[in-house]
Amino acid sequence: MVSYKELGLVNTREMFAKAIKGGYAIPAFNFNNMEQLQAIVKACAETKSPVILQVSKGARNYANQTLLRYMAQGAVEYAKELGWEKPQICLHLDHGDSFELCKSCVDFGFSSVMIDASSLPYEENIALTKKVVDYAHQYDVTVEAELGVLAGVEDEVSSAVSHYTKPEEVVDFATRTGCDSLAISIGTSHGAYKFTPEQCTRDPKTGKLVPPPLAFDVLDAIMEQLPGFPIVLHGSSSVPQEYVDIINANGGKLPDAVGIPEEQLRLASKSAVCKINIDSDSRLAFTAAVRKVFAEKPGEFDPRKYCGPARDLMEELYKHKITDVLGSDGKLAQC
Ligand code: G3H
Ligand code: 13P
Ligand code: ZN
Repeated sequence: MVSYKELGLVNTREMFAKAIKGGYAIPAFNFNNMEQLQAIVKACAETKSPVILQVSKGARNYANQTLLRYMAQGAVEYAKELGWEKPQICLHLDHGDSFELCKSCVDFGFSSVMIDASSLPYEENIALTKKVVDYAHQYDVTVEAELGVLAGVEDEVSSAVSHYTKPEEVVDFATRTGCDSLAISIGTSHGAYKFTPEQCTRDPKTGKLVPPPLAFDVLDAIMEQLPGFPIVLHGSSSVPQEYVDIINANGGKLPDAVGIPEEQLRLASKSAVCKINIDSDSRLAFTAAVRKVFAEKPGEFDPRKYCGPARDLMEELYKHKITDVLGSDGKLAQC
């Protein structure tokens, strides 16, 4: 058993309380490799933002669970080296799908876990979530749960349809499970293809797809039911058109990729939405930078020469999200 406290990590409780009060959201960035982690830590140290480092089941399988834990511990030390005196870094399991996986992460030094039982019937979701909460809380590990179903397809997370969270269920769910935060479905979606062209309209000037707006009325109704309760938005990448264009101009093929407009995320950040999940945008930045180097310098074969630019572009992306979208910059002193 390794306690996250020994690793210098923090859980989400204080982070979320301050974020709700301050009208900003904590960035939850997924990582699978060293370059992503370096870029996240550098961006957060520079902007003075607290951060949630997210690890999916797939990331754990890809990078090795032991290595990932030491990487998170290394991130804390690296942050200090960058002048971040008391790093506010949370290590979070993203989309845990079983009690055993959540328990393993709690035992392995994670400071927060998500149990995603949203695809199960309501009572089963409650039972599994409560089981995880009861275990995690013994070690002061915070638990995110999910109610409602997001659309979109990712490696380990898939759902062809979406169902908005029902505001009339949230009080019963939060009370009976004891979860610390709730991921809701209000129209966000995983991956780089969040909406089909049929669900969008087209901007007459640019011809680009304009996605349908998020269901802010559902968010408002949820906040009315659960005043001050931490709300989480998954599937919140914006799929920046400039990255898609670079990818497509350099041999890639991402037709009609579309994300969540940043103005809507900016608006959500000012509410009880205190954690916003971003993964796909980082994947797009990485891929855009690598494709560009490969296209411009076909003789290049030193990974540092293409992973380096990828790291730089991701750092720029993370800083932009923190300062221009989520508003978590400069919030370290308050945590
Ligand atoms: O929401 C899912 C995350 O983007 C993680 O995706 O399972 O492919 O690592 P992954
Ligand atoms: P995106 O695919 O929109 O980046 O969402 C990531 C996410 O929700 C991770 O849990
Ligand atoms: Zn997610």
